[in-house]
Amino acid sequence: MSDFTQLVAQLKRRVDEELLIAAPQVEPRSLYEPIRYFLSIGGKRLRPTLLLLSARTVGGDPEAAMSAAVAIELLHNFTLVHDDIMDHDHLRRGHPTVHTRWDESVAILAGDGLIGLAYRQLLEVPPRYLGPVFRLFTEGVIEVCEGQAFDKEFEGRDDVTLPEYFRMIGKKTGRLITMATQIGAILGGGTEEEVDILRQYGDVIGVAFQVQDDLLDIVESEEVIGKTFGSDVSAGKKTYLMVKSAELPDAGHRRRMREILTAPAVTPNMLLEMQGLFRESGIFDQAQAEIERSYRRANEMLDRFPHPESTRELRDFTGMLLNRRS
Ligand code: IPE
Ligand code: IPE
Ligand code: MG
Ligand code: MG
Ligand code: MG
Repeated sequence: MSDFTQLVAQLKRRVDEELLIAAPQVEPRSLYEPIRYFLSIGGKRLRPTLLLLSARTVGGDPEAAMSAAVAIELLHNFTLVHDDIMDHDHLRRGHPTVHTRWDESVAILAGDGLIGLAYRQLLEVPPRYLGPVFRLFTEGVIEVCEGQAFDKEFEGRDDVTLPEYFRMIGKKTGRLITMATQIGAILGGGTEEEVDILRQYGDVIGVAFQVQDDLLDIVESEEVIGKTFGSDVSAGKKTYLMVKSAELPDAGHRRRMREILTAPAVTPNMLLEMQGLFRESGIFDQAQAEIERSYRRANEMLDRFPHPESTRELRDFTGMLLNRRS
């Protein structure tokens, strides 16, 4: 195992330990059981890891940033529990979603509870950083909700443009990732310039991360991603693939894709057909090129860091994201 892989495994272990402490095993069980269930069924813990790596990059002690790392993971888990209700998804991290295993009321409340637990963790941030960190966190919560609202609005539109798509994903997914780099850099004692460069790095990898998520949805198997295959197509989501499809020169391709996307019930065969259409028309290649370009650009941002050699771990993090299959 490389030093970086070991470091990531170690940080993830610490985050997992702290998450269990942050989510107590107390009454009422209908609130805390689903929360603990969701936190225990997996999850890559990328956002807390990124936050802790950002703190290290500016020369800080990751332990001093641990409560914020736990807070951001709790917040992320809130977004997932509610996102699965909104997207009618029954599988997450290879297990039943909270609203499937219990019901929607339980899942709404579990999500609400996770926000509260996240803020409780945030209160542990060293007092001199509390103001800026609270502001970033709170603005991030609002922006994720805005992104999710656009995502749902776009389901009912067929004229979503690429700039609209990028704005939407920058909010629903990118914001949390940028929050991780910025808050990590602040808590690590970074200079304004360092925080700003890591913010820009976060902006770029955040967007690439969602384009990749859109691609994995219809490329990878359920066993690998732990989520329902083709869920975005079934829900009529305006993913990178769908928005790019609108530009296809072949009208036949475009028409068939639209038929599938608007079908009253999308069958497994239709999903496979859609996968074939994306592949043949070069949309998968375009998405992959976009992802690789973005991650390259993200590393270029790190070249501007005052001490570029201290960005080694973040470059390894970029590489880890680039190669992810789930
Ligand atoms: C899933 O995020 C939601 C998106 C923003 C695409 P992750 O892929 O980080 O999910 P977990 O936490 O590892 O399950
Ligand atoms: C993720 O969007 C955004 C948030 C959860 C805020 P998706 O709906 O694409 O995420 P997955 O694919 O369900 O993980
Ligand atoms: Mg979803
Ligand atoms: Mg969604
Ligand atoms: Mg998705």
